[in-house]
Formats: sequence, C-alpha cells, structure tokens
Amino acid sequence: MKKLAIIFISVVILFLAVQVIPVQRNELPIPAGKSFVIKFNVPDNVNLILQKSCYDCHSNHTNYPWYGNIQPTALLLEKHISEGRTKLNFDEFKDYGERRLRSKYTEIVKQIEQDKMPLTSYLWLHPEAQLSKSDKTLLIQYFQIQ
Ligand code: HEC
Repeated sequence: MKKLAIIFISVVILFLAVQVIPVQRNELPIPAGKSFVIKFNVPDNVNLILQKSCYDCHSNHTNYPWYGNIQPTALLLEKHISEGRTKLNFDEFKDYGERRLRSKYTEIVKQIEQDKMPLTSYLWLHPEAQLSKSDKTLLIQYFQIQ
C-alpha cells in the first residue's frame, strides 16, 4: 500500500509540476474561416462542414476543449494546431497566390478521399467532426471545381 501511495503522490506532483509550462493559444478574435468564406463566397453547407471538422486546426481560431487548459494535453493540442495551421490555414487563403491555392485544393481533395483528415486522434475526442459520406462528396465536389 505504501508503494502505491508513493506512486500516487509522485504522479500528482508531476502533474502539478508540468502545469508551469505555459499554455499557448490559437485565438485571434476573428471567427474562424470568415475571410475565406467572404472572399471565396463559400456556400453555407460547405462552410458548416469545414467549421465542424477542420477549422480547429486549420484556421486562426481554435475552440478549445477543457483539457486544452491543462498540461500535458495543451502541449499535444498545440503541436497539432501549429503543424496543421502551417500547412493549411483557411484564414490565410485570401493571401495565397493562384498556384498555391490550386495545390492546396488538390491536397484537400486527396486528404479527404484517403480519409486522412480530420486526424484520427482528434476524432476520438470529437466524434461529431467525422465526415459523413455526403459531407465528403460535397467537399470533394466543391474543392474540385475551384
Ligand atoms: C486535429 C487537428 C486537425 C484537424 C481537425 C484537421 N487537420 Fe488537416 N492537418 C493537421 C495536421 C497536423 C497536418 C499536417 C500533418 C499531416 O499532413 O498529417 C494536416 C495536414 C492537412 C493537409 C495537407 C496540407 C499540405 O499542403 O500538406 C490538408 C489538405 C488538410 N490537413 C486538410 C484538412 C481538412 C479538409 C480537414 C477537415 C475535414 C482537416 N484537415 C482537419 C491537423 C488537422
């Protein structure tokens, strides 16, 4: 029993200690995807899917879950968000050149066709972000004609 108590206390101490790592936030006040939606006149049905399944990692604004306020999960979230945003940021589409846009559209279609996005680890905690068959068809059609 004593051993267990020591392990338990160590885990608690460790947990408290990692809380000193500052939590980074991806939170510009602008609603996610707004500039993208306005500039490209994106239809509501497409935007709703992107909002629910993609903007948390591919825009300038993330809706954080409660565990985004504690370490070490905040660090893991930060890694996915900064990586995802660097590769693709819908809020920056308005500044992308024509060639870059084309290549991002092609990449989006590819990722959706291959079921690579949203990331599987994200879906465990956000089952509502799973793309249905019709969501996929709609997004693929939309990004193919762009
Ligand atoms: C949990 C965060 C997360 C979510 C949600 C998410 N992505 Fe990603 N996405 C990433 C990360 C991280 C990468 C970079 C690593 C990789 O390619 O696996 C990425 C890469 C991509 C790329 C590749 C970009 C390039 O040029 O290499 C595309 C396209 C993409 N995501 C589209 C989407 C779409 C469309 C959705 C919504 C259906 C989505 N993602 C949802 C995190 C996410």
